Amino acid sequence: MPVFIKNEHKLCRYSLKSLENDAENLLIICNIADKELSILLVDDQQMTELNNQYRQKNKPTNVLSFPLDDGNEDNLLGDIVISLDTARNEALEENITMHNRVRTLLVHGLAHLLGYDHERSSREALEMTNKEKYLQSQLSRRKNMIQLAVNVDHVATLRQARGIDEPDPVLAAGICELAGAAGIVAHLREDRRHMQDRDIILLRQTVKTKLNLEMGADEEIIKIALDLRPDMVTLVPEKREELTTEGGLDVAGQKEKLAEVIKRMTAAEIPVSLFIDPDSSQIQAAKAINSTFVEIHTGRYADALSEQEADREFALIADSAEEAYETGLRVNAGHGLNYRNTARIAALGTIEELSIGHAVMARAILVGLDQAVREMKALLPG
Ligand code: PXP
Repeated sequence: MPVFIKNEHKLCRYSLKSLENDAENLLIICNIADKELSILLVDDQQMTELNNQYRQKNKPTNVLSFPLDDGNEDNLLGDIVISLDTARNEALEENITMHNRVRTLLVHGLAHLLGYDHERSSREALEMTNKEKYLQSQLSRRKNMIQLAVNVDHVATLRQARGIDEPDPVLAAGICELAGAAGIVAHLREDRRHMQDRDIILLRQTVKTKLNLEMGADEEIIKIALDLRPDMVTLVPEKREELTTEGGLDVAGQKEKLAEVIKRMTAAEIPVSLFIDPDSSQIQAAKAINSTFVEIHTGRYADALSEQEADREFALIADSAEEAYETGLRVNAGHGLNYRNTARIAALGTIEELSIGHAVMARAILVGLDQAVREMKALLPG
């Protein structure tokens, strides 16, 4: 999905990262993520020259599109040229941010590249406006959704290795929140190998964003959850001998048991998420027993040994997230996500939250927790 952006405006600095994000998301929305798009930011003088040369109009304009896709094999979609001077003036007039205006111009320019043309007839003008509205709404849907929830289990793992009282996962959770995490995840396992009851009690009292308690559908832990009332719970399969949660829940195979847990949590106003593999039958089962969320297991994608395998696993996650979203489930994802493989998942647009633990904590040991969280957050669109 190559998007090439160049700012040729000598005096106007403009953050190219968010524009690149928008452009990449738009290509995904249009199902043309394999195409190359180039975006050139210019001043009014350069725009006037282009407008004069290609449209015989000796004045600046806000955006010009130059389609290139003539069936060649290069997969070039075309060029969009935006005048930052005109964009800034228009933003002032409309009382919106310059980024907002540039985004609107990008959408307009892209619609032209896709073959829409408002100058041909009023019918085509209407079609183009509708297309632009659709693209804008899909873009905000993608931009607004994804958030980072940090799993602090491994701070407790380190503490338990010594059997003393530090490092403290409760303190770590506060640092994660200050660094911009939108939520904290903690797994109270039946074997208490990392998080202890005291941690969850204190997290419940101190987490200011959102506490997601990860747990097996075990009666002792269910009672703790009902008593403490975290902001949500994520039900996971739990095996004593596993190193970490290995696979998704078999929701389809234990509908009655899980439906009962969901019923009890719902009565206590605790939304439930079911951690599932990217599999249509599990999504349908989760919907059938009234789960609010599913968390899609990204482990096989993260652990893929080749690019092809990663692509296959990614496609499964993308399809499942789309299916779950369309059925009305809220969608989270997580497991094995790190600084290299997260951006692709985060750009999907159907996923509300990523739950990430090990990679953030591993980096935190080297660069500090605050920086590790900020760096991960920077990989998410927005
Ligand atoms: N989501 C669930 C359901 C998990 O069990 C875990 C691991 O505790 C995670 C996300 C986070 O995985 P990781 O530590 O690999 O980022």
